[in-house]
Order: sequence, then C-alpha cells, then structure tokens
Amino acid sequence: MGKVECMDDFFKLLHPRPVVLIVAQGRSKVNAMACSWCTPISEEPPTVGVVLARESYTRELILESKEFTINIPSRELLSAVWIAGTKSGRDVDKIKLMNVTLKPSKKISTPIIEECIGHLECKVMSWYEIGECTLIVGEVLSAYADEDKLYRGNWDVRKAEVLLHLGGSVFVIPSKQVYLATK
Ligand SMILES: Cc1cc2nc3c(=O)[nH]c(=O)nc-3n(C[C@H](O)[C@H](O)[C@H](O)COP(=O)(O)O)c2cc1C
Repeated sequence: MGKVECMDDFFKLLHPRPVVLIVAQGRSKVNAMACSWCTPISEEPPTVGVVLARESYTRELILESKEFTINIPSRELLSAVWIAGTKSGRDVDKIKLMNVTLKPSKKISTPIIEECIGHLECKVMSWYEIGECTLIVGEVLSAYADEDKLYRGNWDVRKAEVLLHLGGSVFVIPSKQVYLATK
C-alpha cells in the first residue's frame, strides 16, 4: 500500500484534536466560538495559542478587550459546540442559542461557561497575522477544572468525555487508556 497525497487538507492529519469554547466579551455582548486549533505554548510563563479566522467576531472582540477564556466542553455540550462553531456572534446571540450559563471569571472580566469541565482565563500577550488566520498568544492567569472529572491531574477519560474534532460534523470521545509495558 502506498501513501496518498494530503496537501489540500494537510491539517486534517493533525486531527482529531480537542475542541474548546472560546469566550470573548465586547462592550455590549458576550460571544463564544468553537476552536480546535488551540495549543499550549510554554509552561513558564504559562501560555496558550489559539488560531482564529480573520473574519471571526470572537477574534475582533478578543483584540478589543485583550482577554478571553478557554472552556473545555464535555459530550453533553456537543450541540452547543456545533452552534458555537457554525453561527457567528455578528448575527445571533450565541450564548442564548447554546443555552449555557455564564459565570464570572476569577482574574479577568470575560466570563467562563459554567457547564464546561475546565477553564483557562487568558490575557492577550501578542498576536500574529498568518494567511487567513490570526494566532493569538494568551498568558494563562488562572486554570481550574471539575474535581470529579480529573484523576491525578489528568482528565479521567471515562468520566470527562472530552470532545475531539475529527472533521466536519464528526467528533471523537477518547475513552480508553493504553499503558507502556514496564520491565
Ligand atoms: C469543531 C469546530 C472547531 C472549529 N475550530 C476553529 C478554529 O480552530 N479556528 C477558527 O477560526 N474557526 C474554527 N471553527 C469555526 C468557527 O467556530 C466558526 O467560524 C464560528 O462561526 C465563528 O464564530 P464568531 O464569528 O462568532 O467568532 C470551528 C468550528 C467547529 C464546529
């Protein structure tokens, strides 16, 4: 069997990857979007990177307020994730449509989504325009998660049901741990 050409959709080789809900706050509106191009960058200082399309309303709000929250949804929020990822806050009140609850953050003004199982509060450090996207680097000021969904600091995958985005409307839930054989 040979190798097949994947250049047109090269990024698909890097999926499935966790999908998060990014919350941003404007002067009169709070908005959320689904994002699977999200990565830790460094531990010291604690930083993350999120990649947002140039036309996204969330990008506009983040660059205005210079802060955002990253919220980790579980399986029960799948339809809310789909709304956050297919409609724009420019046209609709997504928080209302998603039927989620906003809760004040600990360190920043932008709220978190209470129903999510993990939360990172971030302040914008820098951003880079690359192609049709903007890479926003955020310093993590606070991070916390539902105690009952963690096991020794990692997600307990049987309980957390973390959503990974494969592509299109297909998601994957990791539920099996594999172990290295030790001598
Ligand atoms: C599972 C999933 C993951 C997504 N990941 C990203 C992403 O990483 N970056 C991005 O710009 N858009 C991503 N999108 C698309 C945005 O969420 C979508 O364009 C959204 O309507 C933007 O909303 P806004 O205009 O309110 O910011 C994703 C959509 C889905 C369904």
